[in-house]
Amino acid sequence: MLCLSPEMDAARKVVEGESLLTVAEFTENLIREKGGEPAFPVNISRNDEAAHATPSFNDKTVFGKDMVKLDIGVHIDGYIADTAVTVDLSGNPKLVEAAQVALENALKFIHAGVNTSEIGGVVEDTIGSFGFKPIINLTGHGLEQYIQHAPPTIPNKRMPHSVVLEEGDIVAIEPFATDGAGKIHDAGNAEIYHLISNRPVRHPSARALLQEIEKYKTLPFAKRWLGERVDFALVQLVKAGVIQPYPVLKEIKGGLISQAEHTILVTADGCEVITK
Ligand code: CO
Repeated sequence: MLCLSPEMDAARKVVEGESLLTVAEFTENLIREKGGEPAFPVNISRNDEAAHATPSFNDKTVFGKDMVKLDIGVHIDGYIADTAVTVDLSGNPKLVEAAQVALENALKFIHAGVNTSEIGGVVEDTIGSFGFKPIINLTGHGLEQYIQHAPPTIPNKRMPHSVVLEEGDIVAIEPFATDGAGKIHDAGNAEIYHLISNRPVRHPSARALLQEIEKYKTLPFAKRWLGERVDFALVQLVKAGVIQPYPVLKEIKGGLISQAEHTILVTADGCEVITK
């Protein structure tokens, strides 16, 4: 069991005027100090961003009156715990509560034998009761060694297809609530990548960068972790199909988004939260 829980220390650092890069580096260093490794770069997604935002090298951006999602992953030998909290500097506490209560209700509902569509129904109904919509094309997920998004998918609404959770399954439950349309899309810029196919590349700078990247295995890494002048080599690796970007995901109507997430172990009569 991982007892690292860096998210509360990280959340306290999120205040107006503080830099995103300071919070990201503080959190990632805290994870390392406690004996883990970041399973992915700390995601600091604001307002209509749902996920996959992380500061760039030397990023000077500071928090304003933002709705801030911190999504944090820790791994030890590839075994991952994934958790997220929303820090609201924007004055929309109901939206934060909607995602938080949806997560709590889902956790109360889960036990071995429950099906994933019913969990999605609990999330959908809870968020709906606050007058908001769940983000329907983002889901919770299974976790496997060095794979942070493995089957099964845990939807944030009722679905026609579902699977049954079994005792011993480890899954992340992550409801997102929005006052927008309830859908996200890729919105360009990527600061996070992952290795998809380790094959030889010709250009020396790309080859050198690939060697550096190999230590993250199949887990996502941040461009800023690689130093300052890596754009050319990164583009070569993307073109060669060796790495893939994770573009920032944004709400299609520009709605504000809140998120809550825990990783749990499914037990015979309930579940155990691993990330608290
Ligand atoms: Co997750």
